[in-house]
Amino acid sequence: MARLVTEWVNVTGNISIIARESGEVWFRNLSGTKADVDPFAAPMTGAGAAGSTVRLLDGAINLGFAAIEKTLARSKPTLPAYIVALVGAYHTSVDTARNLRRAARRFEELGRPEVAAYLEERAREETGHDRLALKDLRALGVPAERLVANFIPDGIKPLCKRFDELCAQDYPIGCIGYSYCLERIAALKQEVDIEKVKVLCPDGIDATRFLRSHSSLGSEATHVAETIAFVASLPANDRISVVQETYQSALIMARGYNQELLKSDAEIVAELERAIGEPLPCRNAVNSSHSLKADARPAA
Ligand SMILES: [Fe+2]
Ligand SMILES: [Fe+2]
Repeated sequence: MARLVTEWVNVTGNISIIARESGEVWFRNLSGTKADVDPFAAPMTGAGAAGSTVRLLDGAINLGFAAIEKTLARSKPTLPAYIVALVGAYHTSVDTARNLRRAARRFEELGRPEVAAYLEERAREETGHDRLALKDLRALGVPAERLVANFIPDGIKPLCKRFDELCAQDYPIGCIGYSYCLERIAALKQEVDIEKVKVLCPDGIDATRFLRSHSSLGSEATHVAETIAFVASLPANDRISVVQETYQSALIMARGYNQELLKSDAEIVAELERAIGEPLPCRNAVNSSHSLKADARPAA
């Protein structure tokens, strides 16, 4: 019988994630262990397998969010917060295809056509997703183009910057880790989460195109499955880089979301109205938007 694959990656300081193809995963603090007696002290060099690679990737996301768990805001989702989330969704998707194609060209130059082909395919699939967010904003009566032109949520800026930088690197493999992080979190959303957002919206208005498409009901679940299979097929040094970037992106994402969640509705409405230069058209609904436990944040 073939031996089950074990993979490991040092993601931060002395913390490594170790995962077996059979499904076990654990986090290990390597401080004080000697390289000559610890098989996980040196970087992995073997082949990957989907069963272990997915646990490294998801472990990296969990670790990133755990870093701020104690300070994680738990404010109630409201319509203004959802509008901000849609603006964030626009900004994290508007340059995705262009950035991925830039990274794909670089991998062509580097003689890695399989990575280039994967990124090209991703670029095709992500094309136009920014327009879904714009349509949702318009459905809410918001001057969508003006709003996104004048406003990038503070918590979203570092994410956009990170993706731009990753795709422009000489060896831009990290962009796969960033994309995985955003898509994996989006794919956790279920029908019930979409229904809860619908309740926030004015009667008869569907402003959940982006959310639906970036949920378990849309294309994200397939994107996630394809990315896991692709990352598992990469050489060990690439898998290490992808998992490390998944962790870094999760950290940035967790801090950014937290920053936005800490704002009051009044602060959010003031920011939005400053950006559009007039009162929010859906102000009545905004004022009457009520407490829900739904997670109203769409992702890219
Ligand atoms: Fe997307
Ligand atoms: Fe996607």
